[in-house]
Amino acid sequence: MRSKVSIIGAGMTGATTAHWLAQLEIADIVLIDVVEGLAQGKALDLQQAMPVLGKDVKIQGGTDYALTANSDVIVITAGLPRKPGMSRDDLLMANAEIVRQAAINTLQYSPQAIYIILTNPLDVMTYLTWKVTGLPAARVFGQAGILDSTRMATFVAEELGVSVENVHCYVLGGHGDEMVPLVHISNVAGVPLDHMIPADKLAAIVERTRKGGGEIVSLLKMGSAFYAPGVAVAKMVEAVLRDKHLIAPLSAYLQGEYGLSGIYFGVPAQIGRNGVEKILEYPLTENEQAALRKSAANVAENIAKLNL
Ligand code: APR
Repeated sequence: MRSKVSIIGAGMTGATTAHWLAQLEIADIVLIDVVEGLAQGKALDLQQAMPVLGKDVKIQGGTDYALTANSDVIVITAGLPRKPGMSRDDLLMANAEIVRQAAINTLQYSPQAIYIILTNPLDVMTYLTWKVTGLPAARVFGQAGILDSTRMATFVAEELGVSVENVHCYVLGGHGDEMVPLVHISNVAGVPLDHMIPADKLAAIVERTRKGGGEIVSLLKMGSAFYAPGVAVAKMVEAVLRDKHLIAPLSAYLQGEYGLSGIYFGVPAQIGRNGVEKILEYPLTENEQAALRKSAANVAENIAKLNL
């Protein structure tokens, strides 16, 4: 039987995730949105692109959650995006209610699904989904680290004039301006970044990575990034459906790893068909550990605001 992925929220990130995913031809796709006609229209358009690519993927859209029945993976992107001047945390209360509904409505039709969350504030929305679904933590995780890391890799490849294929970047922590780009574990063809790039330029890359989402929000003025977030989610869905045991930075539930517990937080984790298989602990410097603790405190504070 073919795999099925349902994406809740057919806006910029949801539709773009479907677009990247359809090209992989690994699952049929359902788009759900609260706006009448939106998901249906986008699904129809995407469906009509498939003959050009020669991909046999069934793509449906609508407002009715019954369409999502028996999904292998549920992706939640529903919610408000940032406007210029807003932080991801400013979206907390509005998006919490939307994500809560999306989680409950999908769970009744797909109790076996793996959940991948994209709505911001990411770590908090992932925690909320885990709480309201009551699923094992391994089956609920959030996309942020692949996005933050690919942004950093873009800047590093540009700076050094090397192929993006040679650049491996790792960004941990909460998906906010206090995220922690790791400059000695990130590397170019095996050589740590701090051996390749002068300190001042590296500091500028770290700063631009942290503010990478905001840079795009201020350029777009009417929404936030969607191409890179969408492809990052598609990569995670592929890792699950193909049972790849892929190690990638993502928002996972912590139970003592990195000295942190009881929060969802960006860490390197291995994912496959059953979700999160293990969390890796990188050897971090004192400064990195302190930066992670600061970022974690921010996530914990926002989780507490939801009174779950
Ligand atoms: N159920 C289903 N869909 C909903 C609901 C709901 N209760 N509420 C809102 N939506 C839909 C909107 O109708 C819209 O089509 O979610 C979609 C969000 O799409 P966009 O406004 O284009 O926002 P997008 O850029 O996709 O970002 C969504 O992902 O990356 C994060 O920060 C971003 O939190 C934001 C989320």
